[in-house]
Amino acid sequence: MNNFNLHLPTQLCFGKDQHKELSKLIPANSKVLLLYGGGSIKRNGIYEKVIRELTSFDVIEFGGIEANPQYSTLLQALEVIKTQQINFMLAVGGGSVIDGTKFLASAALYSGDNSWDILEKGQRTEIGLPFGTVLTLPATGSEMNSGAVISRKETGQKLTMGGPGLFPLFSIADPCVVASLPQRQLANGIADAFTHVMEQYMTYPTSASLQDRISEGILSTLIDIAPKVMSEPENFEVAANFMWCCNMALNGIIQKGVPTDWSIHAIGHEITAAYGIDHARTLAIVLPSMYRYKIEKKETKLAQYGRRVLGISGDSRKVAELAIDQTEDFFRSLGISTKLSEYNVDNLSSFPQSCVNAMEKQRNIILGEHKDIRSADVLSILEAVI
Ligand code: NZQ
Ligand code: ZN
Repeated sequence: MNNFNLHLPTQLCFGKDQHKELSKLIPANSKVLLLYGGGSIKRNGIYEKVIRELTSFDVIEFGGIEANPQYSTLLQALEVIKTQQINFMLAVGGGSVIDGTKFLASAALYSGDNSWDILEKGQRTEIGLPFGTVLTLPATGSEMNSGAVISRKETGQKLTMGGPGLFPLFSIADPCVVASLPQRQLANGIADAFTHVMEQYMTYPTSASLQDRISEGILSTLIDIAPKVMSEPENFEVAANFMWCCNMALNGIIQKGVPTDWSIHAIGHEITAAYGIDHARTLAIVLPSMYRYKIEKKETKLAQYGRRVLGISGDSRKVAELAIDQTEDFFRSLGISTKLSEYNVDNLSSFPQSCVNAMEKQRNIILGEHKDIRSADVLSILEAVI
């Protein structure tokens, strides 16, 4: 097992009616910027519940943060933070609103001239403007981790940022919010969390037995509950298991002490930047193709997953192949298409070569747990899913 440091500073308030804790969780005398997305919180009652708890604070609102949060929108929010002297932010939304808030946490205290450098130059955020979150969509784990992904449509980029200054101070995770989610977002949440576990598990065997077993437990639970999440999102117990799986998939625990991959996400972000396909759906496109392409190096772990999680028996290569097929079937059972052509992308000529190059050259990233996936490999992996 590799050495690791584990620091999970976010206070997670999980369960029914936890928003009632808000007035105690937000530091006294805060001037609060309440951030939200396109308006779902105003239709499903979450806004009302939150605003009722904020009467003792000076609150300013900023709505309109889009899915795949846009830099240009966030710059408008940054202006509000500066002119209104905001000293606390409350993100009410899914991964996009929370990630947008993380960018603001960093940008508000940034001393450089151009806040895009935080993303483009990969500058870690050591200290950020404090913020809390009210999660409305289980999927990303952003409510308890210190990462964020920000898009810039003018340049066709979707880039990641991170650092210890980006952990939320607290997060309210009430599974009741699942009841209001459309089928598309339920499916996305399951596929995203599932892939988060896979990115940290599907590498090569190590001695990290507990990390493996926790990962396999999350994967098995997601497979078990997926049909019910889709058909009974109002079932609190199902929703609670779903929300906790999504959190555990990317709250930092299962990545400790083990090699990680993250190539599926890196490629998925480029596909979203190029075509606007939902984040989780890009993962469902890339994952099966990536594992078929890398089956030699991942065979032992794929077979372990096939046997322990999917209950497949037989020789390792066969189990590994079937495991990939069944994982693709699992995504499709959620109503998620796994071929680019199903998203009206019929050839890769429209896939910006600049995106592929960007991964390798400009930011010096060569993907995969063995750092052996280059531009040409990315194109082969994507050509197989046209
Ligand atoms: O904008 P509103 O109107 O709120 O609608 C949203 C949005 O259209 C809607 N929604 C959210 N909660 C709802 C709801 N609709 C009804 N009822 C509710 N309770 O759902 C739509 C999608 O929301 P979004 O926040 O974009 O989804 P998600 O949580 O999947 O976040 C995706 C973003 O997170 C990034 C992705 O790249 C993408 O930009 N990720 C962040 C990560 C992290 N910070 O750790 C890791 C992930 O791998 C991922 O990359
Ligand atoms: Zn993801």
